Amino acid sequence: MLEVKNLATGYGCLQVLWEVSLAVSEGEFVALIGGNGAGKTTTLRAIAGLLSPWSGEVNFLGASIAGMPPHLISRGGLSFVTEDLNLFEAMTVRENLMLGAYSRRDGRQTRATLAYVFRLFPILEERQKQLAGTLSGGERRMLAIARGLMSSPRLLLVDEPSLGLAPKMVMAVFEALKELHARGVTLLLVEQNVNHTLQLADKAYVLEHGRIVLHGSSTELLVNTQLKDTYLGKR
Ligand SMILES: Nc1ncnc2c1ncn2[C@@H]1O[C@H](COP(=O)(O)OP(=O)(O)O)[C@@H](O)[C@H]1O
Ligand SMILES: [Mg+2]
Repeated sequence: MLEVKNLATGYGCLQVLWEVSLAVSEGEFVALIGGNGAGKTTTLRAIAGLLSPWSGEVNFLGASIAGMPPHLISRGGLSFVTEDLNLFEAMTVRENLMLGAYSRRDGRQTRATLAYVFRLFPILEERQKQLAGTLSGGERRMLAIARGLMSSPRLLLVDEPSLGLAPKMVMAVFEALKELHARGVTLLLVEQNVNHTLQLADKAYVLEHGRIVLHGSSTELLVNTQLKDTYLGKR
């Protein structure tokens, strides 16, 4: 479904990624893990069209999307839940969700998708009339993910959903991702919470200083000593 080949990019004249290659198949839950500043967000931004690749390929559903503007990539079925969430604080939960379906004209379909995200995140249904700015940290993450689902994407990119959350809310967010995967949503998840992530993902790529240094199935990576020493021991 998504294939990134030898991707290089950066900001201005600062190169951040070197020869990044990864692949996500339909229905798969793939994780991109690595420490702070490794280039995880940059990779997602380059895939979603927020940053132009300098070289390499980004193919989505059989077509090249490298260098395409973000709104066209999004319309093509790729949804990106950013780290900073971009919620409209002064609008209600429901209004934020409806904005996720903005490119859609079919009202009946939109209502069905809304019912689907409310089943996934019952708390959002309870809070649908509440202003987004008054939600807790965990609820805001859920809202951002739910909004990302409102366009019925073929692939959902999620950047560090556990960031800044209390342990209980981290569990709730991971549960929600697990549920999405179980329902057949294809996921590319960026996380620093390596242990939790490998429990859920089918496979993972490890990014260090802008390069993929390791990849494999989550089962393989969970017993990988190199990874254990670098990340797992710390958590
Ligand atoms: N807008 C930007 N301008 C310049 N450098 C940036 C920008 N965003 C990120 N960087 C740099 O790119 C590197 C990778 O950042 P990022 O992709 O955000 O890492 P991660 O998400 O893995 O923590 C870091 O060295 C960071 O300082
Ligand atoms: Mg990041």
